[in-house]
Amino acid sequence: MYISSLSLANFRNYTSEKIEFSPYTNVIYGDNAQGKTNILEAVYIFSQGRSHRAKSDKELIKFGEDFSRLSLDFHDSERDYTAAMQLMKNGRKNIKINHVQITKLSKLMNYLNVVMFSPEDLELVKGSPSARRKFIDSSVSQLYPRYLTSLIDYHKALGQKNSLLKVLRAKGAKSDMMLSVWNEQLAAEGEKIIKYRTDFVKLINDFSAAIQNEISGEKLQISYMPGMRASGDDKDSIYEYLEKNQRREIDLASAQVGVQRDDLHITINGSEAKIYGSQGQQRTSALSMKIAQADYIHHIKSEYPILLLDDIMSELDINRRMYLSQKIRDKQVLITSTDTDLIESTDNTKLFKIKNGSVVREEN
Ligand SMILES: Nc1ncnc2c1ncn2[C@@H]1O[C@H](COP(=O)(O)OP(=O)(O)O)[C@@H](O)[C@H]1O
Ligand SMILES: [Mg+2]
Repeated sequence: MYISSLSLANFRNYTSEKIEFSPYTNVIYGDNAQGKTNILEAVYIFSQGRSHRAKSDKELIKFGEDFSRLSLDFHDSERDYTAAMQLMKNGRKNIKINHVQITKLSKLMNYLNVVMFSPEDLELVKGSPSARRKFIDSSVSQLYPRYLTSLIDYHKALGQKNSLLKVLRAKGAKSDMMLSVWNEQLAAEGEKIIKYRTDFVKLINDFSAAIQNEISGEKLQISYMPGMRASGDDKDSIYEYLEKNQRREIDLASAQVGVQRDDLHITINGSEAKIYGSQGQQRTSALSMKIAQADYIHHIKSEYPILLLDDIMSELDINRRMYLSQKIRDKQVLITSTDTDLIESTDNTKLFKIKNGSVVREEN
């Protein structure tokens, strides 16, 4: 799939701008703090319904304005789409696809698929489990809205359970009927979540191992590390395990086991990447995982996602840069950079120079 044009009104430091993209490589360059990442952010929002970096939509509205308007034209092998979004200062958000209002955010992800690469991807290997869960969740929910629904329902029930655990500890209770009701819901949603995650990790392991091997000849392995030791993946086994932990969870006044504790175990040539990997190996692994995420979307949907590369070229050594360049040659990619030296340019490459919230130069 590819995007053909993006219009921004009162978005971040843009007052009014329309950008027409090449279906291949687009290089967005300029000094720091001019508005390069803001463009990628705008595209990303149409895929995920929210920014990859803002805490609230309000941050996205241009200082001093009451609302922001964005629109995006994109195309897959089946049809053309126009998406429009309005962000209001009071927090309301209005999204339309082909002039029809979208009521559920999980619907939005079905249309446009993007994968964002940024220097923070290193967190996938070095960071906390939550970075890895976010990677799983954003990959799977882009393709399966039902996964996102399960995830939302699971976290609602988990929030209720945690509130109850606090009350129970204060009362000095040892067990509670209502706790079992929440555990039943958590087990039912947990079973579905584990299924999706297991399937995803298998594919991402295969894809990223092949990529890592091509870049560096190293053996990358990614496996699923469940956040509980239930006797099986079915809801009855999960329920039984959650119930067994009632006493301990009341004592600690918070849920200790469940898919909210899931993680990925990442090894390079057999040793744990987080602990033993060099900075270079960790970077390569993170890059392999992100390219694998794009391959996964392509595998499931038969559409290659749009790649957003935010300031990553200068972080990569020549090997990794060359691998990435050949991998993206026939795909649509938006690359931001302070200079254009490190980016391979072809006849299909379009360059945009950004200054202070405007495109000041555009060339093929
Ligand atoms: N809501 C906003 N209104 C106006 N300007 C904003 C807003 N949010 C961010 N900016 C400005 O956008 C610029 C940063 O844009 P960004 O795309 O992150 O820069 P870069 O070109 O370095 O990627 C800064 O100058 C910042 O002040
Ligand atoms: Mg930036």
